[in-house]
Amino acid sequence: MADQFFITRAVLTGTGAYLPEQILTNEDMAKRVDTSDEWIVERTGIKQRHFAGPHETTAFMGAQAGRQALEKAGLAPESLGAIIVATSTPDQMFPATAVRIQAALGANNAFGFDLSAACSGFVYGLSVADAMLRAGQVKNVLVIGSEVFSRLLNFEDRATCVLFGDGAGAVLLEAREVEKSGPGLLSTHLYADGALGDILYVDCGTDDNRTPGHLVMHGREVFRHAVNLLAGAVNDALAENNLTAAAIDLLVPHQANKRIIDGVGKKLGLPAERVVITVQKHANTSAASIPLALAEAVQDGRAVPGKLLLLEALGGGLTWGSALLRL
Ligand code: COA
Repeated sequence: MADQFFITRAVLTGTGAYLPEQILTNEDMAKRVDTSDEWIVERTGIKQRHFAGPHETTAFMGAQAGRQALEKAGLAPESLGAIIVATSTPDQMFPATAVRIQAALGANNAFGFDLSAACSGFVYGLSVADAMLRAGQVKNVLVIGSEVFSRLLNFEDRATCVLFGDGAGAVLLEAREVEKSGPGLLSTHLYADGALGDILYVDCGTDDNRTPGHLVMHGREVFRHAVNLLAGAVNDALAENNLTAAAIDLLVPHQANKRIIDGVGKKLGLPAERVVITVQKHANTSAASIPLALAEAVQDGRAVPGKLLLLEALGGGLTWGSALLRL
């Protein structure tokens, strides 16, 4: 039977992006803290970042990116089944940012929830959406990464405040019956190590004795773990699909630091033109960074139907993960 050659997969049918209007260059940051363009570029590759204005909330930006993804896919908001928002900077503790976005989009038939996995949030979101789609729970899911890290930055700490920016990216995933060699999410791999929770965290929450509202990072420790853990996540993705790195058309990594991205690219033996890099323009936008990079690669024609994309991220938790996606 021909049927046996078909499989249900989560197929990407639209991407969207939103970046705040305000851009701060490294020179602008040097007016606020004791730093320099040279130091920031050499250690991170970052040249500028976008900072959200008062109206550019996580929900606002997520809705802009989400609406664009729906339009690209040609799906009416009322036909949407679910919205997952990966964010560590929700507008409020509750209601979830996802339901604010549901209302903004007029996606009246969708349910929605937020997912907190720091910079790995988008890969975690893809994984959850993939399971929902393959189980037949919904026909489509809008996965959004949206963050306003500028509101968590400690401008007394030059080692962290220069690293982050704001923005939102979105993808629409739709359940489709496809051939095994066809498009869709081929696999996702998720990992966590809570014992490393104190090397990257935000010091506000609902437990006692917290000074509200700042991101704290032990950068060297994070760096030390990043390349090896990410390489493991990537190798697991390749092994499960009986692929070698040579099959990857584009690496779309979390954009935290160009040295980490280069380290993973080197381990995979990928030439620079097969690695999508946006960190120089966006800095680290946490859960928004992969969908922003993906939207850019779609927009500029690098990510076209048939291409095999490898996504990977690591962030607070520690959490990390990978996803293999054929367009
Ligand atoms: N400008 C100028 N100097 C700075 C600075 C800044 N913005 N931030 C720190 N420094 C100084 C430090 O004070 C220190 O000076 P000292 O030697 O006189 O004490 C020196 O630079 C080295 O500091 P250190 O923190 O050890 O730098 P580093 O080489 O580890 O680089 C990071 C810092 C953050 C760039 C690096 O650790 C890193 O990229 N880590 C991974 C971070 C990351 O990607 N996290 C997100 C994961 S989702």
